[in-house]
Amino acid sequence: MRMYDLIIKKRNGGALTKEEITFMVDGFTRGEIPDYQMSAMMMAIYFVGMNEEETLWLTMAMAESGNMLDLSEIQGIKVDKHSTGGVGDKTSLALTPMVAACGVKIAKMSGRGLGHTGGTIDKLESFRGFSTEISINQFLQNVNEIGIAIMGQTKELAPADKKLYALRDVTATVDNLSLIASSIMSKKLAAGADAIVLDVKTGSGAFMKKEEDAFALAKEMVKLGQNAGRNTIAVVSDMDQPLGNAVGNALEVKEAIETLKGKGPADFTELCLTLGSLMLVVGGEAKTEEQGRKMLQQVIEDGSALDKLAEFVKAQGGDERMVYHPEQLPKASLRDAVLASEDGYVEKILCDEVGICSLILGGGRETKESEIDLSVGIILEKKVGASVKKGDILAYLYANDQQKLNIAKERLLKAYKFSQEERKEGPIVIGIVKQV
Ligand code: URA
Repeated sequence: MRMYDLIIKKRNGGALTKEEITFMVDGFTRGEIPDYQMSAMMMAIYFVGMNEEETLWLTMAMAESGNMLDLSEIQGIKVDKHSTGGVGDKTSLALTPMVAACGVKIAKMSGRGLGHTGGTIDKLESFRGFSTEISINQFLQNVNEIGIAIMGQTKELAPADKKLYALRDVTATVDNLSLIASSIMSKKLAAGADAIVLDVKTGSGAFMKKEEDAFALAKEMVKLGQNAGRNTIAVVSDMDQPLGNAVGNALEVKEAIETLKGKGPADFTELCLTLGSLMLVVGGEAKTEEQGRKMLQQVIEDGSALDKLAEFVKAQGGDERMVYHPEQLPKASLRDAVLASEDGYVEKILCDEVGICSLILGGGRETKESEIDLSVGIILEKKVGASVKKGDILAYLYANDQQKLNIAKERLLKAYKFSQEERKEGPIVIGIVKQV
């Protein structure tokens, strides 16, 4: 078999066989197929597309390119959750302890990632001493004993995807539905959970700007998960404005803690209840989503969800007292307010711009080597639909550098768009994809 022939076949509109896809992925992972040939193949796929079978074979070949995590030592149904990401997305921080407090086992691999704020791991490192660099044995033991563990993504997890995603990133071949779906699902399948709940974001701060594209990606991933024998459900949720009020690592942790106490923002709480109830259903702890929702509300009310977070933080070396004393989380030295420049209703908050403000303040990484400042960020006091008067506080900025604060302040005000007509905030959950 020659890669050259496979490129011609795909370029001319053909469908690749399972053997051809496996040959291509294995050869590329081992370094036998050069980047320039794989780039040509990605561009051919970008224009020609892949059918359902090709997409599944590519996903499986990438999932099997490294170690497939074996979670069989953990009793019960293991559930994983994945979000396509967005601004202020701290969902895992609140959702996973809530669900674990209801009895579902969460064995999760998370990343740091580039972006406006850190990834889940960076956020969790706001707890003094917390580490996701735990051994696989410790990981399995923690899930068995307390129902939850989060580990950093290892190099052995779907290495083909890692290499291919880096190549797609520099060859303008990221935004193809089959390639995105297979990339995400290869990592989820390799991470070993029995059931997967996906949160596919749509809107100005999401990867998928248009709702129809988000639904198409959600359906593609649900199909892949189900074809691979994992119970998979996707929620399509709004990312046209930041999720909740907090953007920035420690600020988001604080908001997640408030949510576990039942005092979180309405949109964020609703998203956690929706995703959580689905996790309880696929995890076999609830018969219906309604029952799951009630169970989640109960663990919030009786404090066991918050206690579960503390247990989890402690088990991974963190100072669990900070869960009960969030004022001890990293704090910025400067705070300033952004004031409304006119009367009206908040019509839009440009999500990406809010994210960039967080990055300017130092809350995210521009390169893999950048250091994150966990203490900085933004608290939005007004969200879409709010009625404001000139001079009202729209948001607070938290910073450690006056110059950065000044730049972010000017930019954040421009991210707010006002209207004279009353505006309603849209629903946070746009739809659920269960079967395809
Ligand atoms: N996230 C991934 O992991 N892969 C993609 O292709 C796009 C987003």
